[in-house]
Amino acid sequence: MKRNLGDRSIHPIGIGCLPMSTRDRRDDGRSVRTIHAAVDAGVQLLDTADAYARDESELGHNERLIGRALRSCSRREDVLVATKGGHTRRGSAWELDGRPEHLKAACEASLRRLEVECIDLYQFHRPDPAVPFEESVGALRELQQAGKVRLVGISNVTVAQIEAARRIVDVASVQNELSPCFAQPLRNGELETCERYGIAFLPWSPFGGIERAAVLGDAAAPLRAVAQRYGFSPYRVILAWLLACSEVVIPIPGASRPESALDSAQAPRVRLDRGDFDAIAGLFTPSPSSA
Ligand SMILES: NC(=O)c1ccc[n+]([C@@H]2O[C@H](COP(=O)([O-])OP(=O)(O)OC[C@H]3O[C@@H](n4cnc5c(N)ncnc54)[C@H](OP(=O)(O)O)[C@@H]3O)[C@@H](O)[C@H]2O)c1
Repeated sequence: MKRNLGDRSIHPIGIGCLPMSTRDRRDDGRSVRTIHAAVDAGVQLLDTADAYARDESELGHNERLIGRALRSCSRREDVLVATKGGHTRRGSAWELDGRPEHLKAACEASLRRLEVECIDLYQFHRPDPAVPFEESVGALRELQQAGKVRLVGISNVTVAQIEAARRIVDVASVQNELSPCFAQPLRNGELETCERYGIAFLPWSPFGGIERAAVLGDAAAPLRAVAQRYGFSPYRVILAWLLACSEVVIPIPGASRPESALDSAQAPRVRLDRGDFDAIAGLFTPSPSSA
């Protein structure tokens, strides 16, 4: 099973590298081993951002880590690196800067940290209410025209913003939150819009985020039952659920341990039947009567 991202056909599971740069992270050596394990298992998409760091003082930590890991990677040419610009850090707080001049400077810094001449997929991290969305997306188009960026993506966007971005540039991907605990893109039309235009949909926080993922082992009974029946981890079952949501979905589960990356990379082997799919959908999503 492969999935399309722009003009590439890739392994259906990517890896999100955020947990390699959070406050409670372990050593960078383990993170490099995690990236190598993922790539050796066939993963072809690594997701990062310039702002993935503990705080402002180490901005770019995650991108530098990927640059370092890919230097010594046997299958480098198979890997797409997806990074993002548009978030900044003040201390450990997250702020926004969607001004074209910021995005262009941020892209130059990402190119240096990733040790590449062209970024495979450059994503506008989050719309900045202080800057017209079209101006931010216009900056990404200019970066693409200048050869600094191959594919353009957008993140944390509405259907109207997807439509607006498409009028400016060829949008290769949309990265929005989607998991059984946060299924709004299924209801708000974001996933459907991506399907209509053949845009890859990269669900972030597929397990509901790092903290929720840590307790998924004590999963709710229905998820445990499905996982036991297939003989797979609950993580793989959730990823299989996301893959079954649509042909355009390419989940990017976070990982900081090789074991997590290896397990997640096997998710395409799980084929859920309709009953299991519905049981997982109803697991975390509040029913209309309880909403
Ligand atoms: N665009 C945005 O605004 C945005 C926002 C948030 C995240 N993201 C992206 O989305 C990615 C995923 O989201 P996330 O990292 O926040 O949360 P997540 O994927 O829901 O959870 C990540 C955690 O799940 C654990 N995990 C993953 N696969 C596992 C497995 N097979 N078995 C056991 N544990 C497993 C990892 O543990 P270990 O660390 O122990 O390996 C990791 O810490 C991020 O890494 C980032 O690239 C984007």
